[in-house]
Amino acid sequence: MFRTKSVEQSIQDTEEPEHALRKSLSALDLTVFGVGVIIGTGIFVLTGQVARSYAGPAVALSFVAAGVVCALAALCYAEFASTVPVAGSAYTFSYASIGELPAWIIGWDLILELALGCAVVAVGWSGYIRSLLDTAGLRLPRGLTGVGAGGEFDLMAFLLVLVLTGVLVAGMKLSARLTSLIVGIKVIVVLIVIVAGAFYVSSANYMPFLPAAQRAGGASSGLGAPLVQLIFGYKPTTFGVWGVFTAAAVVFFAFIGFDIVATAAEETRNPARDVPLGILGSLAVCTVLYVAVSVVVTGMQKYSRLSVEAPLSDAFKVNHAPVWSGVISFGAAVGLTSVCMILLLGQSRVFFAMSRDGLLPRFFSQVHPRFGTPYRATLLLGLVVAVVAGFTSIAELSELVNIGTLFAFVVVAVGVVILRRTRPDLPRSFRTPWVPVIPVLSVCASLWLMLNLPAETWLRFVVWMVVGFLLYFAYGRRHSRLGLRG
Ligand code: ALA
Repeated sequence: MFRTKSVEQSIQDTEEPEHALRKSLSALDLTVFGVGVIIGTGIFVLTGQVARSYAGPAVALSFVAAGVVCALAALCYAEFASTVPVAGSAYTFSYASIGELPAWIIGWDLILELALGCAVVAVGWSGYIRSLLDTAGLRLPRGLTGVGAGGEFDLMAFLLVLVLTGVLVAGMKLSARLTSLIVGIKVIVVLIVIVAGAFYVSSANYMPFLPAAQRAGGASSGLGAPLVQLIFGYKPTTFGVWGVFTAAAVVFFAFIGFDIVATAAEETRNPARDVPLGILGSLAVCTVLYVAVSVVVTGMQKYSRLSVEAPLSDAFKVNHAPVWSGVISFGAAVGLTSVCMILLLGQSRVFFAMSRDGLLPRFFSQVHPRFGTPYRATLLLGLVVAVVAGFTSIAELSELVNIGTLFAFVVVAVGVVILRRTRPDLPRSFRTPWVPVIPVLSVCASLWLMLNLPAETWLRFVVWMVVGFLLYFAYGRRHSRLGLRG
């Protein structure tokens, strides 16, 4: 159960011809990938929601807090990715350091982050598309709009995922080119928000910057209250200092993705140098943009009036700048496609790695003879995610994505420390500074954000993990290649 797969074995497995991915990415490709997946629903949609319900203008501080948590984790991810440049991210890392069961658990957990995250973003995208169609006077037939949790089918989200699956099957290089274009548009739109928006800022909107704490009601009380408040027996509150942390745990979603850069390590030409550069670079760019956007947007409109669906473009609408508003909606719709695609890419690579190791059926790790992509894993996941996206709404699912991702951060940080002890000899082109201080801080910071998520999110998370445990004992343990070899 705690058998580990040696780093050499992991690297050797990637060299078997019929299971080998093509190595074509550079540091710049990776940074573009990173920014492409990081900037998405988090900043475009969740900013308004958390400013309204939890933090007010202090949401900028929540972005700083979440950014610090991610930076600590990124330092750990960078060491691992530069040591074990193999598809599969946290899954591969924990297989090499802690053992097979924890690796399985992480692989299972990453499904929450990647597949579910992809579905959440697809649904957000579909919302923006509908609003653009509306502007153009077009309407989808009822029953295909997936609005709210009414159980209607979300046709646009479903189609988006199918199209992206096709792009991924056809090959990395094509996807990377498409991504660069989309990322360019997205970054320009974010800059427009910051620069054009600055002209509409009114200092009155910043009063109060940190609204006083209030008793929580409705969805933020009972099981919906952050676990940390229930543990310490506080009456659940929103706003105030607690509110900043609650908001940080939610806007954490906006940072998800820098870790996914590591999943492409195996397809990178010079992973030792390029992967750490890609991870830390994309995270730094996004943190600066987020803080700026949240400061500007809460200055453009009173936090209590920000819109929940499209806060960035609506803030321009209320300031009588409909053209900017339209441009931003369009850019958001374009930008969310790349987020969705890269989440799906990451998921197919993790699934591929697990299948190559025999923890999932080996059938899925065949690489396409011409495209050099793991097409079977990609097709299966694409179909499943498309269906999930067709039938889900965003709200609570994004919190489940956050808890899953934070859990992976904890495991990776622990893994860095373990691998330093068990394999001090390995070449590490990037070393996390001040081990074990940074990994320990990373674990504490990630756990802290997890505790700020609602109790019901914890319940869902535990149920998902228990199912994963059962599957491991029913399938993975018996079919593991490592087990069979041993
Ligand atoms: N960070 C990505 C987003 O905000 C997942 O949509």
